[in-house]
Amino acid sequence: MLPKKFHIYSFPDFKKARVKPDTPFKREDYISLNENYANLSSVLRGKKVYMRTYGCQANVRDEETMLGILKTFGMKRTPNKEDADLVILNTCAVRENAEEKVYGEIGSFKSLKKNKPTMKIALCGCMCLEPPVVEKVVNTYPFIDFLFGTHDIARLPTFLHRAFVMGESFVDVISSSGEVVENLPSLRSERFKAFVNIMYGCDKFCSYCIVPSTRGRERSRLLKDVVDECKGLVKRGYIEITLLGQNVNAYGKDLKDGTSFASLLEEVAKLGIKRLRFITSHPFDFDDELIDVIARYDNIMKYIHLPVQSGSTRILTLMNRRYDREGYLSLVNRIKTKIPNVALSSDIIVGFPSETEEDFLDTLSLVEEVQYSTLFTFIYSPRPFTPATIMKDQVDDKIKHERFIRLSKLSEKIIEKQAKKMVGKTYDVLIEEISKKDDSFVSGYTENYKLVHVKGDSSFIGKIIKVRITSSHTYSLIGEIIDGQENN
Ligand code: 5AD
Ligand code: SF4
Repeated sequence: MLPKKFHIYSFPDFKKARVKPDTPFKREDYISLNENYANLSSVLRGKKVYMRTYGCQANVRDEETMLGILKTFGMKRTPNKEDADLVILNTCAVRENAEEKVYGEIGSFKSLKKNKPTMKIALCGCMCLEPPVVEKVVNTYPFIDFLFGTHDIARLPTFLHRAFVMGESFVDVISSSGEVVENLPSLRSERFKAFVNIMYGCDKFCSYCIVPSTRGRERSRLLKDVVDECKGLVKRGYIEITLLGQNVNAYGKDLKDGTSFASLLEEVAKLGIKRLRFITSHPFDFDDELIDVIARYDNIMKYIHLPVQSGSTRILTLMNRRYDREGYLSLVNRIKTKIPNVALSSDIIVGFPSETEEDFLDTLSLVEEVQYSTLFTFIYSPRPFTPATIMKDQVDDKIKHERFIRLSKLSEKIIEKQAKKMVGKTYDVLIEEISKKDDSFVSGYTENYKLVHVKGDSSFIGKIIKVRITSSHTYSLIGEIIDGQENN
């Protein structure tokens, strides 16, 4: 039973979320979708929004879109919860601990809302696609005003109208991914580096992963729309573009016109952006044409995030990853042969159901062999409605933690060795910010994504400078500017 206070426009449904629509994805235009709400600014102008985003880059990009929409109605962002007229918590569902953090934050709004009853509180993002989460939220936290999902962001003006003009509380979470919306407003968080969505959703259905349910089926933006957006960014002086998708290598498959990720990457590289990156790659779709394009263009960074998830073929099969250990290692060899200076990074899950010590040793030996420059290690977390949750032989928490530590230590040793080798050499570094620990330093990244700190001030931010590395820590390097010359 749901509390009466909430009007249910649409409720999430895990089954619907995973089904591919019969009809081709619709292409919609944000402006024409929302033309009825032009008058909303008279209600919203000057109001403040507190927005908190959890999780991956797809959510960060959604945050930029939502802030862009709110700005068109004259709303401003505030870092202070107390000042907010609107709160939006943009959630992540990939692991249970991500959800726990969100519940912690929701609780903190109870007394704020009591003191300021006009404050509207919304929950959006991946957690809202989970029916049990929505039920729990509306029953446990009645001070929440509305919930919407990842497919509903372009309808934010409708939600604002309902909340601020009609005074409604509601749930409106559409589960099926039927459309691609263009011309979305955007308030980009950085002046010199930008993330550009090239596709949404994922069709891979790895057996542990909730993403195909929360982000829907794969749908690509048209090549022309992506290229036009990138062209605009180059014109506005952006230095780095990262093409974004759950599985960028599958880009274009649904367009059925021969467009591939390799062809898109090449088109964007030709626009002359200084640094071009892309995340995330799936090994199954990573072909030789793509390796050739990366090798051919100097402005495509030689850094590839290529999640392996496990080094054991038996576990990879249970994970439904569609490659085996040998296939992955052979792909790594082809990449390293054609792109000798490449840096590879990866995601690995430890403690997947039935993972034995022998399987785990296969993972350690694969990590030794590949020598990742960055490794994101995760403890397996059962997710609702995923096949792995009901698999036999769930691994004991103690063993999971112990494997997590062993893998982290190995990766740390490899990364430390790589960092030491960089001392004395010179690298181009794109300076991003004042260093967090010492404000007489600035920090940025090399082409292969190593973090470098160098003496400097805010005038360096957004510039590529030549830096000689003078010393190394495990996860960062200290350097000196070679000639004070920026390299833009
Ligand atoms: N448990 C632990 N890690 C997970 N990931 C995805 N689903 C789970 C899960 N249920 C990890 C994968 C993926 C990364 C983004 O999160 O390694 O690549
Ligand atoms: Fe999840 Fe697998 Fe898709 Fe990545 S490829 S988002 S791990 S289902």
